Amino acid sequence: MEFSESKRWFERSEQAILGGVNSPSRSFKAVGGGIPIVMKRAYGAYFEDVDGNTFIDYLGAYGPLVLGHAHPHVMQAVRQATEDGILYGTPTPWEVEFAETLQEAIPDLERVRFVNSGTEAVMTTLRVARGATGRNKIVKFAGCYHGHSDAMLVAAGSGPSSIGIPDSAGVTPATASEIITVPYNDVEALASTLEQHRFEIAAVLVEPIVGNFGIVAPQTGFLQQVIDLSHAAGALVIFDEVITAFRFHYGTAAQMYDVHPDLYALGKIIGGGLPIGAYGGKQVVMERVAPLGPVYQAGTMAGNPASMRAGLACLEVLRQPEIYERMNSFGQRLETGLHNAAQRVGAQVTINRVGGALTVFFGSQPVVNYEQAVRTSSEEFAALFHALLRRGIFIAPSKYEAWFVSAAHSEGDITKTLQIVDATFDELYR
Ligand SMILES: Cc1ncc(COP(=O)(O)O)c(C=O)c1O
Repeated sequence: MEFSESKRWFERSEQAILGGVNSPSRSFKAVGGGIPIVMKRAYGAYFEDVDGNTFIDYLGAYGPLVLGHAHPHVMQAVRQATEDGILYGTPTPWEVEFAETLQEAIPDLERVRFVNSGTEAVMTTLRVARGATGRNKIVKFAGCYHGHSDAMLVAAGSGPSSIGIPDSAGVTPATASEIITVPYNDVEALASTLEQHRFEIAAVLVEPIVGNFGIVAPQTGFLQQVIDLSHAAGALVIFDEVITAFRFHYGTAAQMYDVHPDLYALGKIIGGGLPIGAYGGKQVVMERVAPLGPVYQAGTMAGNPASMRAGLACLEVLRQPEIYERMNSFGQRLETGLHNAAQRVGAQVTINRVGGALTVFFGSQPVVNYEQAVRTSSEEFAALFHALLRRGIFIAPSKYEAWFVSAAHSEGDITKTLQIVDATFDELYR
């Protein structure tokens, strides 16, 4: 494949956009460098770059595009939204319908608020939890990423880890001192932390299924124990479902494990590809937020009609359970095919998968926490990434991210992907 036009655009970009990218994980730093591919068009399960190359897309824009690119129902909603005027700064029918739709899908959302990104959603839940409890400290799990608000850039998973900034410069020691991290899936560590900081913890924040040091599922009972221990310590529980909500079924990861946190942060998929975030949960907690309560949160673009209508359209399509059955079965095919390809050539891989989302770790040990993810081979992942890219398969450029199957992938795409995977492992290991 020829990437000369990408190179030309990227070099031009570097002279104007800091680092040539608008989000660090789009750079190829975490895969040993190279020119990020500059895309100009996307449809269904495919991307087309500025050189005219076509790729099967497993990036899914880092999660939102569960329906694939340019889904006609979502595009129609966006077109209609632009024709009706794109921003009012007033209440609209669509935000009401969308909030009701979310409530119906996620009954724990007794009250909800829309914001513009996952970062904002999580950041606000922390403020709400602090306002509701009168406490300051937050417990999070090492390697989980919760957006780039100051407090959340402590031991923060895929983006920062990939580029080697475990704790961002510019975050004050005072902020960092309010964040306590414990290993994911480690109930004892959480229990002793809560004991050690009695009466200080406002909330325990968790990705119920991790998407940010690769896909990592909670071990049996982990989430319920997080909730029970936190509540016993007087702390609220926040589930960051920015990646997970509507990813595996029409609802949350909490519903998959039959658990009930106090607050949720949502984003990505619920915007149908447009910018969005949302937070919500128990009414008594949410009533702390202005204009009803003393916790302030606002936004010029919050609940903008285009995002609301795109989100509504996306969820209308996702209501069909067969979409998730298909993504799960394609995820299964990819997992098996990747395993077989690796085994055939003697490569050591551990594949973590939930539904249509999976991560290929290079190493023979299970990965249930961040430290174990860090220990897997970055070099082998980088080689796989570049070799797949040259053959037209686009996965996220970091060993800490996931392959996302979308509703737009076909049996044929999976078959083609697995043929390429076979050829790639042969090239790299034979
Ligand atoms: C679990 C989780 N929370 C929060 C965020 C931040 O969302 P956004 O990038 O929309 O600000 C992300 C983004 O990757 C995420 O994966």
